[in-house]
Amino acid sequence: KETFDLVIAANRLPVDRVVHPDGEVEWRRSPGGLVTAMESVMRGRDGAWIGWSGDPGEAPEPFREDDMQLHPVPLSADEVSDYYEGFSNGSLWPLYHDVIVQPTFKRRWRAAYERINKRFADAAADLAAEGGTVWVQDYQLQEMPAMLRAQRPDLRLGWFNHIPFPPVELFMQLPARESLLHGLLGADFLGFQRKADAYNFLNACRQLLAASVKGDVVRLPDGHATRAAAVPISIDAQAMADLATTPGVKARAAEIREQLGNPEHLMLGVDRLDYTKGIRHRLKAVGELYQEGALDPATTKFIQVATPSRERLEAYQHIRSQVERTVGQINGDHSPIGAPAVTYLHRSFPREEMAALFLAADVMLVTPLRDGMNLVAKEYIAAHDGTGALVLSEFTGAASELKQAYLTNPHDISALKQSIMNAIQAPPDVLARRMRAMRRQVMTHDVQRWAEDFLTNLAAAPERPR
Ligand code: G6P
Repeated sequence: KETFDLVIAANRLPVDRVVHPDGEVEWRRSPGGLVTAMESVMRGRDGAWIGWSGDPGEAPEPFREDDMQLHPVPLSADEVSDYYEGFSNGSLWPLYHDVIVQPTFKRRWRAAYERINKRFADAAADLAAEGGTVWVQDYQLQEMPAMLRAQRPDLRLGWFNHIPFPPVELFMQLPARESLLHGLLGADFLGFQRKADAYNFLNACRQLLAASVKGDVVRLPDGHATRAAAVPISIDAQAMADLATTPGVKARAAEIREQLGNPEHLMLGVDRLDYTKGIRHRLKAVGELYQEGALDPATTKFIQVATPSRERLEAYQHIRSQVERTVGQINGDHSPIGAPAVTYLHRSFPREEMAALFLAADVMLVTPLRDGMNLVAKEYIAAHDGTGALVLSEFTGAASELKQAYLTNPHDISALKQSIMNAIQAPPDVLARRMRAMRRQVMTHDVQRWAEDFLTNLAAAPERPR
């Protein structure tokens, strides 16, 4: 049986299985930052990736793609609703994002979460080579590390949290909070986006487990130790930079501006359609700026790409209708005939089209109410050599690195409007200087470096790496 020195476990595979009405099967790239980052890390490493195909029912057979072994884990329709939509995205996601939406807790969801984490642990135990490394990803798999360690003490186990880790006052609400902490403590090294996230985790261990915490190492009574530290994730920056300089993408960027009537200013937002992303706040600010005449709807356009996400959950249906109503109101109130002020795109686009959009936009609006990192901010920077401005929420992990962005508090609509105006009115030399500094940061701290950092820390854990 084939085993692998490096095994990644993530809720989703990098590709999604889509079955068309005529029965034809298509594999599409999965949405979200996790896949954006991990896909390029795994290229050329000859590892295995364990994950769900995005389609309920029996798992497809394992297959190879881009020199990676993809190993689908099955989820039944009930498990999709209890483990994925329920505990992962109805309990954990809102709780870990500052309860922007009230989390729901159900005992049935929690039981399914434990069962599926065990299923992932069993799959990894089967695929990992003797003494190999298993790298578990994100909030959907927090109980997996301890379950895997129980079966395979020979493995090096790491876990990386792509989303925030909440302050203990919020984390405390979670039923089964101790099991989740114990689950994570099965790993040797835990990576977080920001120092504050690692600190929140260590604090939760101290307060809720009465564990021994020295510096950034947690030690259990059985002697097993786990280190927790910040390792901020990134993108394949050179790939985005290269893509943005291809003649096709450059021509398409010019064409996009032309299609909009060659606006003086083009603002852009790109998000999964999620209530954490602050799209409503952003639209409110832009709408008021049109209303007051600070921005002219004939010459300043706004494109919002909102990729469909988790569409069966009520909170997502709700944010979608709020966003769509607001876009309709702004266009109804302000758009000239045949030239909408806001172009709203509720779908996903190929990478080339995304690069062209980044390149076309003079101002990028990234205004989440809470976000683990936000890789779109980094993609915009990597696509821009020269000018371009980034308005960035202080509540993103990216704000700890991109200090030259127009940092803003999206809850404060007046402050947000001011930040947008500052970005739009800044002289080109100021924008160029800010962009140079941000580019240096993004180009030198790319996803390859992130993966090396993580794996070095993992290899050295629980002691600090030299
Ligand atoms: C975020 C999460 C990922 C998730 C992605 C897309 O980036 O950190 O774990 O895969 O959103 O969400 P979905 O629920 O569609 O997988």
